[in-house]
Amino acid sequence: MSAPESSSSPLRLVRRGQTVTLGNVAPDRTLLELLREDLRCTAAKEGCASGDCGACTVAVAERGEGGRLAWRAINSCIRLAHSVDGMALWTAEDIAGADGTPHPAQRAMVECHGAQCGFCTPGFVMSLFALHRQRGGQAVTRGQALHALSGNLCRCTGYRPILDAAQTMHHWPEPPLDEAGILQKLELLAQSGCGLEADSASKNYFLPRTLTELLALRAAHPDALIAAGTTDAGLWITKQHRRFGRVIDVTRVAELRRVERGAGVLRIGAAATLNDAFAALAGDRPRLAPFFDRFAGLPVRQSGTLGGNVANGSPIGDSMPLLIALGATLALAGPGGERLLPIEDFYLGYRQTALAPDEVLARIDVPLPAPGEVAQAFKISKRFEDDISAVCLAIALRVEGGRIAQARVGAGGVAAVPARAIKTEAALTGRTPALATFDAAAQVLEGEFQPIGDMRASAGYRRHMLGSLLRRLGARMQPGAGPALADLAPIDAGARP
Ligand SMILES: Cc1cc2nc3c(=O)[nH]c(=O)nc-3n(C[C@H](O)[C@H](O)[C@H](O)COP(=O)(O)OP(=O)(O)OC[C@H]3O[C@@H](n4cnc5c(N)ncnc54)[C@H](O)[C@@H]3O)c2cc1C
Ligand code: FES
Ligand code: FES
Repeated sequence: MSAPESSSSPLRLVRRGQTVTLGNVAPDRTLLELLREDLRCTAAKEGCASGDCGACTVAVAERGEGGRLAWRAINSCIRLAHSVDGMALWTAEDIAGADGTPHPAQRAMVECHGAQCGFCTPGFVMSLFALHRQRGGQAVTRGQALHALSGNLCRCTGYRPILDAAQTMHHWPEPPLDEAGILQKLELLAQSGCGLEADSASKNYFLPRTLTELLALRAAHPDALIAAGTTDAGLWITKQHRRFGRVIDVTRVAELRRVERGAGVLRIGAAATLNDAFAALAGDRPRLAPFFDRFAGLPVRQSGTLGGNVANGSPIGDSMPLLIALGATLALAGPGGERLLPIEDFYLGYRQTALAPDEVLARIDVPLPAPGEVAQAFKISKRFEDDISAVCLAIALRVEGGRIAQARVGAGGVAAVPARAIKTEAALTGRTPALATFDAAAQVLEGEFQPIGDMRASAGYRRHMLGSLLRRLGARMQPGAGPALADLAPIDAGARP
């Protein structure tokens, strides 16, 4: 890829209630670089520059449903600056009242002694701020606080005082925030447009609004980086120091943001955030919800997209084994229209996919649960959240008349690509869901792949865990395991090693 050109598209956002227009922001400049180096707003910190620590957390808001602002905390270190064009943005230096009254998130951190060295504090405060706004200032439970802070690390204070802060912040009044005024400014920005414009030859960051615009841009700029939430691609910039002279951002494409149900299928637009996609999947299959909480931390799930996970094609990506088990189909859009591909056929080799250079991933279609379906997914990693899988296993069975009528098994961390365990499926199909069936199928699964050993797990451990997880599902399906199964729900997908 070439280095960024000197001319760049203006970047417009709403900050501290005012519209700000910034020129000459390179297409691959990160939001954190923009804040700290260009705007000299240094509250957001750089800890890891890889989305892992949360020191750089900021809050953004867009026009959401019901004419209200939709709030999110995101990691600014791996988010491209231009990707927040047309949004409202807050850092820890923006949230106190005009008279200096701290925001309840800040006040609670002080009252609960939530900071020692203070390096992580602005990031925690912004996750708390976003939570407070999302909850409309209501009290939060410990679980909600843990969930909201899942992407923030603190090395010195310890988490109890910070969680206490989350649970007490509703006690203090919030400084006034002119939501109507912000919405009006965002509306004006939306009307003034961005994306495909007449001078597209001189532009280097594109925010197309429709699939037609996106495909035209893809055809015109085959060398451009297709960017979604950049929770993978952002690290190519911050860690591999790669430069991208042209970026096509898919996150505003209406068709790609849509999540809808119809005719036995859940259609998830490729640019739906992981959070939205997982909420829809868990809406149909509630027992999968704990598995989704194991994916990264909240700011990554609020920025990253399901399409980005699938298109990136990492063999240790967590959504693909599940999508394989659920029988998902990918819709690839190109100049000739749309073609559908079973997800397991999308992966051709290590990080090689069937996506043609002029195509984009438009949608992931997931069949709705059939009667008698049992779907479970397990992730083995060293940390409960914000960690990469050593092994991921997803199983979807259809039990009919006391027999397993259909079995689909997806596995991650076991081969060069996310894989379907065909031999294991055959060992399950047509059998009764008895322990002996799962034991026999587990032995098949342990031999079906030749995983590698690395710093996360040895090859033997990976093989062994695959079998154990399948046996675990078998145990849970036995008569009488019902209440135990329900009790285990919070660690259902946990499988802590
Ligand atoms: C701290 C951290 C924790 C993480 N934890 C996990 C985890 O637990 N499990 C896991 O699986 N992953 C994890 N990830 C990886 C990452 O979050 C996911 O892969 C995410 O879904 C990527 O989506 P994105 O929108 O950010 O993609 P991007 O980074 O924007 O893009 C990734 C790739 O997909 C391509 N792409 C994106 N959208 C399209 C499209 N519509 N059509 C064609 N190509 C497209 C891009 O060109 C790029 O090659 C983690 C990442 C971080 C930083
Ligand atoms: S600096 Fe660590 S998450 Fe951004
Ligand atoms: S207060 Fe020091 S890292 Fe959290």
